[in-house]
Amino acid sequence: MAEAAAERLMARVDANPGRVAICLTGGSSPKQLYHLLAREPCRTRIPWERVHWFIGDERFVGATDPLNNMTMARSAFLDACAPAANIHPIPTDTANPDASAARYARELQSFHGADHLDNARPLFDMVLMGAGPDGHVASLFPGYPAVEETARWVVGVPKANVEPFVPRVSLTLPALASCREMLFEIGGAGKRAILTRLLAGEKLPANRARSIGETIWLVDTAALPEDFRAREPE
Ligand code: 6PG
Repeated sequence: MAEAAAERLMARVDANPGRVAICLTGGSSPKQLYHLLAREPCRTRIPWERVHWFIGDERFVGATDPLNNMTMARSAFLDACAPAANIHPIPTDTANPDASAARYARELQSFHGADHLDNARPLFDMVLMGAGPDGHVASLFPGYPAVEETARWVVGVPKANVEPFVPRVSLTLPALASCREMLFEIGGAGKRAILTRLLAGEKLPANRARSIGETIWLVDTAALPEDFRAREPE
C-alpha cells in the first residue's frame, strides 16, 4: 500500500512542472510511505526544491513532542530530504488552537496567493488522508461543529474524540477538498470495523472528505469487511 501511495505521489509531482504542494497526514498509516520517500528510488526522483509540504491536522503539543504529526513526518523523511523553507508545520507555540488555526490559514493563503478557494486552481496537488476508528479525518470528528465549517480553512478543535486526547488544529473539509487528488491509506485488521461502516455509506467525516478532483482509497485485504473477503477468488 505504501508503495502504491508513493507511486501516486510521484505521479502527481511529475504532473506539475511548477511549485507542488502536498498536504501530509498524521497517525500511523502514512509512516511506511514517509520512510519510502526518503529512500531510493523516490529520493532521487522527487524534485525536493520545488515540492512544499503541509499537514492536514496537528495535535496541539510542542514541536519536540513525539505526538506532533509534523515532527513524525520530519523525522521519517522531511528533515533528511526537504529544504527547511519547504516544510510548513502548523504552529503550536501560539496561545491556543484557534490562534494556531488563524496563523496557519494565513500561511496557506499567502502560499496560495488568494484568500478564497478556486476549483480551477486547487490549493494542493495531493492531500494524504487516514481514517480514524470513529470515521474522523484530519481532526474532524463525527458530530463536531468543525466538520460543518464552510468558510474557514483551518479551525481549532478544543477536544479530541479519540486518543491522544489533546486539543487539535485541523484543516476543514473545503480546504482539504481543494486538491487534484485526495489519497486515503486504510490498512490493517484494526480498520475493518470502520471501513465496514464507511462502505455502508454512513455519513461520517471520512465519507464527506472528497477532493474536487480525484479521491482514491487504498485499502488492504486485512481491512476489507467480511463480505468483501468472502467474494475473493479461491
Ligand atoms: C491524527 C491524524 C488522524 C489520522 C487518523 C488515522 O492527527 O491522528 O491526522 O486524522 O489520520 O486518526 O490514524 P492512524 O493512521 O493512526 O490509524
